[in-house]
Amino acid sequence: MTNNFAVALDGPSGAGKSSVAKAVASRLGILYVDTGAMYRAIGLAVLRQGIGEDDTAGIVHTLPGLSVALRHAVDGQHVLLNGKDVSGEIRTGQAAQYASKVSAVPEVRAFLLDTQRALAREQSVIMDGRDIGTVILPDAEVKIFLTARPEARAKRRYQELAARGEPVTLESVLADIERRDEQDRNRPIAPLRQAGDAVLLDNSSLDLEGTIREVLRIISEKTGVHS
Ligand code: DC
Repeated sequence: MTNNFAVALDGPSGAGKSSVAKAVASRLGILYVDTGAMYRAIGLAVLRQGIGEDDTAGIVHTLPGLSVALRHAVDGQHVLLNGKDVSGEIRTGQAAQYASKVSAVPEVRAFLLDTQRALAREQSVIMDGRDIGTVILPDAEVKIFLTARPEARAKRRYQELAARGEPVTLESVLADIERRDEQDRNRPIAPLRQAGDAVLLDNSSLDLEGTIREVLRIISEKTGVHS
């Protein structure tokens, strides 16, 4: 198929990438791929095996025994760890912290690279992550770097976690976000950064619908595809 296109949606945590990507995918009838879920699944596996988050050798050692796959159903993306659906378990603060740590390990990134690229080969996708526009899909037709001020991102993430009954405070969520931003931006491999040809979209003062509209506008400008 020559008419396939890819949208690379990168940015820091809490910018709303997954909600935006999910809605845009459904309005355009394209596949949504949440790559963070794959790092979270590996983080969860490491955590469950009692390996320390900084134990790089231990993390690398677990990889041959792991399989991480995505399944797309009507209710959205599910992530399977060794065949088991862990879509719920990967959404805790602890799994997020482990995800951030394992994602800095080159072997982990290499382990997931082919699976991520293959998903964009067969169909049109909107893929969210940190390095989609810079590393995974450098030829993506549309690249958007979605960000917001840390305080705005912390407030959204706090509301999400609190709604799920996680015992968190706004201050602790802000501290977590700042720590993960720092880790994700300063790692030597595939650091979080805006691709040179990505459109910067700061949604600190936009709501979800406003952000979706803006993303759809950018996609239509670059590809001629409308919702
Ligand atoms: O988007 P998220 O919060 O689910 O991502 C979890 C962690 O995985 C985050 O700290 C950064 C990392 N990640 C990454 O390094 N590269 C990606 N393409 C996606 C996520």
